[in-house]
Amino acid sequence: MSKHSDSVHPVSGDQKLPRHVAIIMDGNGRWAKKRMMPRVAGHRAGVEVVRRLVELCRSKGIEVLTLFAFSSENWRRPEQEVSLLMELFVSALKREASKLHKNGVRLKVIGDCTALNSKLQHQIEDAERLTAGNNKLTLVIAANYGGRWDITEAARQLARQVEAGGLKADQIDEARLAGCLSLADCPEPDLFIRTGGEQRISNFLLWQLAYTELYITDTLWPDFNESAFDSALSSFANRQRRFGRTGEQVAQSDTTQAEKGA
Ligand code: IPE
Ligand code: IPE
Ligand code: MG
Repeated sequence: MSKHSDSVHPVSGDQKLPRHVAIIMDGNGRWAKKRMMPRVAGHRAGVEVVRRLVELCRSKGIEVLTLFAFSSENWRRPEQEVSLLMELFVSALKREASKLHKNGVRLKVIGDCTALNSKLQHQIEDAERLTAGNNKLTLVIAANYGGRWDITEAARQLARQVEAGGLKADQIDEARLAGCLSLADCPEPDLFIRTGGEQRISNFLLWQLAYTELYITDTLWPDFNESAFDSALSSFANRQRRFGRTGEQVAQSDTTQAEKGA
């Protein structure tokens, strides 16, 4: 089991909050199409939603927000859409980095950044360096990210250690592999949200989502506002996470914890 799964959750009012929320921001294209606008208009509107959500998460005391911005498969889109998405990423970083820093947000980008253009790579490095010491909220942007890529990279790192003689194959266990993944320094996601209604993971955090609570909404990403987020949070708060145990065992340990806390 993950070292984080039993850790204490922050509380808002008397509602249990997720420590880490991971989101597939989907539906920008459909949102634009409904309005007879080009797809990029949907992506632009989506950036605004990200700005507001970062603020919300920070004010609620959520520790980590991971957003799927561009998948390793999104290169298959028309060239023009890919370059517009990259431009949006560059301009958002340029505009927002100092504000994130001022608000105590740490920025972390996961994914194969070597495929991004060098200007963007430098901007990412600068923003990560600037915000590295912040601890209000960690904002993780998954760019050119794929869950399979992440696990493959971790396997490669372990294989290198074995090759170099520092590690024996028998010493490889789940914790060691997890320690080589992109989100090794973050608690595992407690809540996964996908907007746009598709019932799939689309190669997002394959390893890390093993015990994450899934929440899929038909709301399109540009329409995902505070009340839509609150609905996701309240759905999360009402779930019983069993991690393989029985409902009775979990209820019993919750009571014991509450008594200890009282
Ligand atoms: C998600 O919205 C944004 C990215 C994948 C970058 P889409 O662009 O996939 O929107 P739909 O699914 O076509 O509506
Ligand atoms: C997933 O959305 C990727 C991002 C939101 C960045 P897609 O729109 O690319 O997913 P599929 O292709 O419908 O599975
Ligand atoms: Mg989509």
